[in-house]
Amino acid sequence: MKTILVTGGMGYIGSHTVVELINKKYNVIIVDNLSNSSVEVLNRIEKITSIKPKFYELDCCNINDFKKVFIENKIDGVIHFAGYKAVGEGEKVPLKYYDNNLISFITLLKLMEEYKVNNLVFSSSATVYGQPDTNPIKEDFPFRVVNTYGRTKLMIEDMIRDYTKANPNFNAAILRYFNPIGAHSSGLIGEDPNGIPNNLAPYISQVAVGKLEKLGVFGNDYDTKDGTGVRDYIHVVDLAYGHVLVLDKLFTNSGLVTYNLGTGVGCSVFDVLHAFEKACGFTIPYEIKPRRAGDVAIYYASPEKAYKELGFKTKYDIFDMAKDSWNWQKNNPNGYKK
Ligand code: NAD
Ligand code: UFG
Repeated sequence: MKTILVTGGMGYIGSHTVVELINKKYNVIIVDNLSNSSVEVLNRIEKITSIKPKFYELDCCNINDFKKVFIENKIDGVIHFAGYKAVGEGEKVPLKYYDNNLISFITLLKLMEEYKVNNLVFSSSATVYGQPDTNPIKEDFPFRVVNTYGRTKLMIEDMIRDYTKANPNFNAAILRYFNPIGAHSSGLIGEDPNGIPNNLAPYISQVAVGKLEKLGVFGNDYDTKDGTGVRDYIHVVDLAYGHVLVLDKLFTNSGLVTYNLGTGVGCSVFDVLHAFEKACGFTIPYEIKPRRAGDVAIYYASPEKAYKELGFKTKYDIFDMAKDSWNWQKNNPNGYKK
């Protein structure tokens, strides 16, 4: 049984990935400082899988605390989710983002080197592509980062590329996620944003459950099929399973690999809204607002490389995503808070 350390494993994508790893009989250790998650996640993971993973509440930037995890456990691989991810906040307090995202990563890599852990999966983002010239986006498209958050992702990617070049025994997967939404079908784990959500799916869910009045649609004059922004939404359980597949690849001594994780299908804001309306069985109020600064009109992934090299194929469509998001939201109107 291989042991996988999951940093940020109490968070949205991390918790779903932990469930998929346990389903595939990995021994999972979670490290999280709970800066954007709740300890209740651990009970929910146990309810779903009947296993409560070992959990260390600590900050990955604190090398003395983090070292204990490597001393006390024999780790075969690491999936690094820990980090801050709110694009708007990153613009307001860039130092907080550089500090947490870069230092947590560097600390992790130092410990992996010291304790000879040679397999790493890193959560990057489609944001590194910025506004592409064409769609679908392939992994070799140019980098066009436009914000601090994206720059932290690209800097970490660069560190991984340099480190793997210098250390031929080190295996690393850079995964560029498109737009993860949805929740586990049990309704026990899901996305639980702090305050008013910035992202589309949690915003719609909170309108549907009556916590917010109406959705603001940021622009209906884009050059897209209905004028609203188009994205590649991927069910978080499909995304989580991608991590299981990529670990199999790393354990064949793959060296450095990079994959987009998306569906290859672009959905507009109205497509997502209508999927949620179908899932809830009622209409969800919205109003058209001006475009949001920094938004691109359209982007979606080419998932070809992940399919060819990993056998990665998404199972869930936009309706499944809306149904599972709604199931989570209606059963947990206040997220993990009672
Ligand atoms: P999340 O905020 O739900 O999860 C991140 C977890 O990391 C949280 O539980 C938080 O408490 C923890 N954390 C943060 N800093 C830490 C530190 N220094 N030490 C220990 N724990 C720390 O976010 P998520 O949506 O699950 O995203 C996971 C990863 O995927 C992030 O790196 C994010 O940038 C990346 N990503 C997310 C999206 C998205 O749309 N959700 C898209 C692309 C990439
Ligand atoms: N949108 C609205 N109203 C809202 C929120 C969003 O109309 O209240 C629209 C946006 O304009 C965009 C689409 O819905 O057209 C999706 O917006 P999100 O904020 O949900 O997602 P983004 O594509 O802007 O960005 C997300 C993450 C980034 C990540 C990127 C790619 O926030 O961190 O996906 O993974 F980099």
